[in-house]
Amino acid sequence: MKNIIITGGAGFIGSHVVRRFINQYPNYNIINLDALTYAGNLENLKDIQDKPNYFFEKVDITDESQVRAVFEKHSPDAVIHLAAESHVDRSITDPNAFIKTNVMGTANLLNLAKEFWDLKQEHTHGNFPDRKDINNLFYHVSTDEVYGSLTDEGFFLETTAYDPQSPYSASKAASDHFVRAYGNTYGLPFVLSNCSNNYGPNHFPEKLIPLCILNILNGKSLPIYGDGKYTRDWLYVIDHAIAIDKIFHEAQLGETYNIGGFNEWKNIDLVKELCKQMDEKLGKEEGTSEKLITFVKDRPGHDLRYAIDATKLNKELGWKPTVTFEEGLSKTIDWYLDNQDWLNHVASGEYQNYYKEQYN
Ligand code: NAD
Ligand code: TYD
Repeated sequence: MKNIIITGGAGFIGSHVVRRFINQYPNYNIINLDALTYAGNLENLKDIQDKPNYFFEKVDITDESQVRAVFEKHSPDAVIHLAAESHVDRSITDPNAFIKTNVMGTANLLNLAKEFWDLKQEHTHGNFPDRKDINNLFYHVSTDEVYGSLTDEGFFLETTAYDPQSPYSASKAASDHFVRAYGNTYGLPFVLSNCSNNYGPNHFPEKLIPLCILNILNGKSLPIYGDGKYTRDWLYVIDHAIAIDKIFHEAQLGETYNIGGFNEWKNIDLVKELCKQMDEKLGKEEGTSEKLITFVKDRPGHDLRYAIDATKLNKELGWKPTVTFEEGLSKTIDWYLDNQDWLNHVASGEYQNYYKEQYN
């Protein structure tokens, strides 16, 4: 058996990664290390929580002694790091939480990995030995937002210079730099990926797509920032989990991969498409949900456009999205319609209080 710590496993993307690894790899013990912040929800994992190879540790990645205790207890062979503060709007109102978790928390994990895996100072200059197994592998999951904002043309490549614009993307960029610095300075075997906007089941309803689904269900307005022409590249979350699995097992050490859906949408067009599908599924007259669209004050420093060129991942590791946007959006809406209890728990905070009682 191999022991793999997945941080942030109770969150949106992390829960899909944990589920995939539990189901695909019975020879891995999966240790879900998560602080259960407002965004973490063990309900996301209820179908796999009784599997013999699943373990949960309610731990804050910024707490050195708690993370140390998890390393001592589980002797991890590898770490897949997803835990983060993840919402741009929150980073604008409370940047310190992002600096603490995304930068300090990542540094804490790196220091413990270095110590437990007994890494020596060794200037790799980006050259790592050929990959044999997953031993001592630190996989850092990051975002395309580190590259900044595109105009109407061009794509982010792995070689695009970092130019983060929001406190969120600046904190993720800093964490990426630390991972690469530990690779270069201490020979930490790492891989890193930068992914575009994800959507799908378990997405916390503060982000655009699930927020609009929730608000349509409650007959509330759908807030579109600015003129709604801001553009994002959307990827179905399970396709991200599949990419993470591939990169974790097959990428050469020290490599970075961009992951994206080849699927750009202007926010206003995306929300209109969502309204159309919701009307159909709810049996409402076409145009009903669209009436809820309300243009509101823009986000400060709003990045105009993100678009990923995922050719490297496709050519080298044979990955491509398996789900079209139309299918993915339909599945996502169906999931929210079938899981309205989940939405109500998450939105009310009742669920978080319940779990605080359980674990404190
Ligand atoms: P999320 O906000 O849904 O989940 C984050 C998880 O991390 C939660 O379970 C939360 O409890 C946990 N967490 C937060 N702070 C913690 C701390 N201090 N200690 C331990 N656990 C903590 O986030 P997500 O959307 O699933 O994103 C996961 C990762 O993927 C992040 O690193 C994010 O930057 C990256 N990413 C996200 C997207 C996206 O579209 N959501 C795209 C690309 C990359
Ligand atoms: P979001 O889901 O917060 O992801 P990110 O900021 O990481 O891209 O936002 C996606 C896009 O939708 C972004 O351009 C901001 C915009 N947006 C709105 O117009 N209204 C909203 O209520 C939210 C949450 C986002």
